[in-house]
Amino acid sequence: MNHFLDIHKTGADDLRGMIDTAKRIKNARAGLPKGTPDEDQALKNHMVALIFEKPSTRTRVSFDVGVRQMGGQTMVLSGSDMQLGHGETIADTARVLSRYVDMIMIRTFDETTLLEMAEYASVPVINGLTDRTHPCQIMADVLTFEEHSGPISGKKVVWTGDGNNVCASFLHAAGQFGFDLTITGPDSLAPEAEFVGWARDKGVRITLEPDAAKAVIGADLVVADTWISMHDSQSKRERRHNQLRPYQVNAELMAQANPDAIFMHCLPAHRGEEATNEVMDSAQSVVFDEAENRLHAQKAIMRWCLGK
Ligand code: CP
Ligand code: NVA
Repeated sequence: MNHFLDIHKTGADDLRGMIDTAKRIKNARAGLPKGTPDEDQALKNHMVALIFEKPSTRTRVSFDVGVRQMGGQTMVLSGSDMQLGHGETIADTARVLSRYVDMIMIRTFDETTLLEMAEYASVPVINGLTDRTHPCQIMADVLTFEEHSGPISGKKVVWTGDGNNVCASFLHAAGQFGFDLTITGPDSLAPEAEFVGWARDKGVRITLEPDAAKAVIGADLVVADTWISMHDSQSKRERRHNQLRPYQVNAELMAQANPDAIFMHCLPAHRGEEATNEVMDSAQSVVFDEAENRLHAQKAIMRWCLGK
């Protein structure tokens, strides 16, 4: 069963194949109205469940549009409206949904919900973000980088701020796609040692540099994300802001990176916090290409899940 649970749990050749497929299917649709069906209708007669236990704009819309363009149908389910949110087990939910749908995408809190869904489902399960990782996002980010700057292998990526779920998937991607990753943020918000160790074991350079200005020297890509994720308590807000203010991506920080460096943010952004308007709207910013590429990357992921 081809579940897409995480970048480090998927073979490097398969990941590369998905990026290549995404480029191909994106190019084939260039300039067409968004509702135009894909020529090969790879998901014809397929039904896909999209489950959200957290808010979403990009993941929700890009999966829904992607399935429809490929000729399939979707149902978007909110975790709290399902019996899942009222005591039915994840295992039973997985077994039941597998009788109705051909694939399940889930955005949830605890990673064990995703893993249990995958264990008991008899259809592919896709990780649409957990508290720990966000693999679909980073597949779109790799696609976006390569469109703008060529092969990502051997390049220097700098993550700024909280060592969160998106950062974790960047660590996995560093190991699988072979790029160097520098993470700059306060020690107390460093990514999980398990993920750092996993990437280092793959032979790529992973650097934890508390000084943001030093970290971005020589960067080909600078990345920011929200200082407070959906799973974080808002009671941490003031402390987080004080800790993370020195890691804001502003024009001064971007000036330390390579002149042709690009800037990414998975969005939603809190403009004026983790990144300034000046950077978000600069010529170096590729944040909306990144958002668009969720669509193309996920279509490739769904095809891989279904062996197409
Ligand atoms: N980047 C991302 O996953 O956005 P949403 O939370 O809007 O899905
Ligand atoms: N780190 C963010 C990413 C949102 C797409 C969060 O988990 O809220």
